[in-house]
Amino acid sequence: MVKRIGISTGGGDAPGLNAVIRAFTKTAISEYGWEVIGIRDGFDGLIKPDHVMQLKLDDIRGIIARGGTILGTTNRGNPFKYPVHEGGQVVLKDISDLVMENYRRMELDAMVIIGGDGTIGIGHQLAQKGMKIVGVPKTIDNDLGSTDQTFGFDTAVNTATEALDKLLTTAESHHRVMVVEVMGRDAGWIALYSGIAGAVNVVLIPEIPFDIARVAEEVYKRSEAGKSYSIVVVAEGAKPKGGEAMYAERDPSKGVARLGGVGNWVGDQISSRTGLETRVTVLGHIQRGGSPTPYDRILATRYGTHAAHLINEDKFDHMVILRDGKIMGAPISEAVAQNKCVDPKGDEVRVARDTGIYFGD
Ligand code: F6P
Repeated sequence: MVKRIGISTGGGDAPGLNAVIRAFTKTAISEYGWEVIGIRDGFDGLIKPDHVMQLKLDDIRGIIARGGTILGTTNRGNPFKYPVHEGGQVVLKDISDLVMENYRRMELDAMVIIGGDGTIGIGHQLAQKGMKIVGVPKTIDNDLGSTDQTFGFDTAVNTATEALDKLLTTAESHHRVMVVEVMGRDAGWIALYSGIAGAVNVVLIPEIPFDIARVAEEVYKRSEAGKSYSIVVVAEGAKPKGGEAMYAERDPSKGVARLGGVGNWVGDQISSRTGLETRVTVLGHIQRGGSPTPYDRILATRYGTHAAHLINEDKFDHMVILRDGKIMGAPISEAVAQNKCVDPKGDEVRVARDTGIYFGD
């Protein structure tokens, strides 16, 4: 019997999503003879079942280099906490039974869920209700457990590093302090990797709470020593010692809380404490856009093909992972048990410190 497999992309987009869709669809059709059903806009496509499209080989031709996702996505569609308007108010309802009903009505044999910790975690909850799930780890934040790397991260680091290289030349010309806020949620991977690659002076990450007085002092000392500029990279989730991370939006009915503001705060503090001319750049969603790097295209392709092999082996409630250079499957429960954060005593932080990067601690 021909299998019908659904595939969806959920949460924030990341470069490489289309490469996974392409690789999975090619393997599913050409190697296994299955039908592939594209579910649009994350779990929304299983809530509103007209949000589907059959994926044929023609639909996925030429998409490996394209950013975004041909299936669309959302980070507001958690079916276990779905915002519903009731009596002039927004209430969060569990509509997961409807999702299961539509999954069965569409006669899907399994679902490939491409997402970060939120989406993959929802997939795990749906697996407990009987959905046959295989997860694929996506996020520019690189914070999913079990896997050594998520696709999208390498492209985001490239984008952030290119921005740092550009900011350095203008900082140098104007003798300025440049503060650059990068994404990453509660993990400092993008800040740390782009900071090392961009040879910046200060990196502030959530895993190492910083002392703002010391950060300002470090920048001031550089200027006193005749260094004409300083570059400070701040992860959006970085927090001062004894303080909290800063949020731009925290309304649960609007989905996941949105971090933001720490870059401007750090910039203001440096400027007022040192008197040095300071500018702040918030890189924002540019880190999620554009064409994936060759590394991400290859990683996404390896993930996509292996997702099909896991389904063929009836290995569900599993996520494809990269471990020590090899692609394999691991239980989703392990992957979502704990976010993968930067180890303050790990190799990368050590390398950064050895090359003169200050963490504000
Ligand atoms: O998880 C990916 C990510 O880009 C985070 O780095 C960032 O905090 C968040 O998504 C932004 O989400 P939104 O697209 O809702 O602004």
